[in-house]
Amino acid sequence: MKDSLKMIHDTARENHIPIMKDDGMDFLIEYLTSHENIRDILEIGTAVGYSAIRMASVRWDMTVDTVEVDPAMYAQAVKNVEAESLSDRIHCYLCDGAQFETDRIYDLIFIDAAKSQYRRYLEHFMKNSRPGTVFLFDNLAFHGIVDDNSLSHNRSTVQMVHKIRKFRDHLLQDERFDTVYYEDSGDGIAVACRRL
Ligand SMILES: C[S@@+](CC[C@H](N)C(=O)[O-])C[C@H]1O[C@@H](n2cnc3c(N)ncnc32)[C@H](O)[C@@H]1O
Repeated sequence: MKDSLKMIHDTARENHIPIMKDDGMDFLIEYLTSHENIRDILEIGTAVGYSAIRMASVRWDMTVDTVEVDPAMYAQAVKNVEAESLSDRIHCYLCDGAQFETDRIYDLIFIDAAKSQYRRYLEHFMKNSRPGTVFLFDNLAFHGIVDDNSLSHNRSTVQMVHKIRKFRDHLLQDERFDTVYYEDSGDGIAVACRRL
């Protein structure tokens, strides 16, 4: 990894910004590297732009549209993208993911934002997909709590975990997709490839 990118990574970790876990990032980069047909990516949940920059760096022709709801995160992401000279291929949008509208069709849609909204994002962005488009969701294990109720200690976590489990079960049974769930990668990653 370039020094400047490592700096973005380390600064985010020091400031407790929830960038993707390192093994999850490795999984995503390996997935993109081995799927050369993926070029245009939509990301929901930019944070400071770390994952967007990593994805855009896989191949010179990749484009990333990335959406962030928090103005301070968005501003830092724009700075980081500019510093990496990637503003021509990474476009940052300050917007609630569920309100983001575009006519573009993406090869991969990476959902890494408000977990309670995952089902909503899936339906909202169906119109920006085609057969073969991959939806990739992180945080479906929610620190292992989704599969071990005893780890959830308060009401809001219980509700969140219930929503995530319900979404994960729904996705695995959704016949519009071929879905594989990688329990041990990142914080639980699902890769759902649209069939029709
Ligand atoms: C897990 S972080 C994203 C990390 C980033 N993908 C990375 O690995 O570098 C989730 C981000 O989603 C943002 N977020 C939360 N709700 C959102 C929403 N409704 N729309 C867009 N972004 C949202 C948060 O502000 C946060 O920055």
